[in-house]
Amino acid sequence: MWSTIDITMMSRAIMLARRGRYTTRPNPNVGCVIVDANGVIVGEGWHQRAGGPHAEVHAWRMAGDKARGATAYVTLEPCSHYGRTPPCANGLIAQGLKRVVIAMTDPNPQVAGRGIAMLQAAGIDVCSGLLADEARKLNPGFLSRMERGRPYVTVKLAASLDGKTALANGESKWITGPAAREDVQRLRALSCAVVTGIDTVLADDPSMNVRYQQLGYLQQQLDEDELIQPLRVVLDSRCRMPATARMLSLPGQTLLVSCQAYPAEFMRTLPANVQCLQLPDVAGRIDLSALLQYLATSCNSVLVEAGATLCGAFISNALADELVLYQAPKILGASGRNLLQLPQYQQLSDLPSLQLIEQRKVGVDNRLTLKLGD
Ligand SMILES: NC(=O)c1ccc[n+]([C@@H]2O[C@H](COP(=O)([O-])OP(=O)(O)OC[C@H]3O[C@@H](n4cnc5c(N)ncnc54)[C@H](OP(=O)(O)O)[C@@H]3O)[C@@H](O)[C@H]2O)c1
Repeated sequence: MWSTIDITMMSRAIMLARRGRYTTRPNPNVGCVIVDANGVIVGEGWHQRAGGPHAEVHAWRMAGDKARGATAYVTLEPCSHYGRTPPCANGLIAQGLKRVVIAMTDPNPQVAGRGIAMLQAAGIDVCSGLLADEARKLNPGFLSRMERGRPYVTVKLAASLDGKTALANGESKWITGPAAREDVQRLRALSCAVVTGIDTVLADDPSMNVRYQQLGYLQQQLDEDELIQPLRVVLDSRCRMPATARMLSLPGQTLLVSCQAYPAEFMRTLPANVQCLQLPDVAGRIDLSALLQYLATSCNSVLVEAGATLCGAFISNALADELVLYQAPKILGASGRNLLQLPQYQQLSDLPSLQLIEQRKVGVDNRLTLKLGD
């Protein structure tokens, strides 16, 4: 059904879409290639940032008159609604495209097949499903938000070879080497929000921000002014956040989540970029499902960077999709602090299901990426 040209062009559109992965959120990453009847690329582009032109617009602007009678390859169904930009389906019709090949339909309820229907109603030959699995991998967060009503959740942990995260006295800086810490900066830059637990704040007073100078090779692909700081989220059921915490004075947004109201005196000390949110509790601690539902209004992807307690809670409640584990070539011994606090399981079949999907060396450390759940 698909020709070699179809596969080559959609692969290129997918490659282009990836270029937007640090800058389009909360929009999806989308790429588009326009090819004339001789198989020559006459236009191409990718969605670069929310509010800016969609991939198709960049491509047809480049193609100009050559778009007439041509084929467009798009990694996601063209939109059919007026958002911050007009519908791309209308634009493709107006530009006179003859055929549109789509990798996957858009699960956004505002689109969900309407873009395809508009193109077909205008007499355009529409084919869908080419390299759909590859196209899905472009947008795990956006798809999770649209299909499940919650962001894609990655839990990140750094541990020794024997699975310890700190010495018994809490010293943990630094178990991993500089390359792994740089890698974490890139993970943060990919995330819409970084979630931590109040006990990590009290122990380490972390910044939880992205530091451009520590992005390593990414500095060649991304200008400093393109960098979007993730929302910093602190889970603090009982309002223990100190007014002096470092992250409260940093640029970017911070959200303090609790199960009770912060004292008015504390609230008065907060700068304008710090918001507070009260959520229901489960057994005295923040209801993590309610948190994710709240974050889904604006966040595709969430990175959990916390200690054994909160990371364990996300995993044991089946609310984490991926675990990124940096393993340092160190052995801390039996007195070291454990990786995850989990319920006391009675059978191996009750354990959270983990599937190793990638393993690579990052500097002196090992990075494992594991998929959680079935
Ligand atoms: N190796 C690593 O990758 C890594 C990364 C980060 C931190 N750490 C280390 O981890 C240590 C802190 O870990 P920790 O386990 O004590 O604390 P944590 O996981 O950072 O925070 C746990 C706290 O989060 C709050 N929380 C709110 N809602 C929760 C929920 N639904 N489930 C669970 N917790 C919830 C609870 O306090 P309230 O009940 O008061 O809300 C809980 O005590 C520090 O020493 C830090 O250096 C290591």
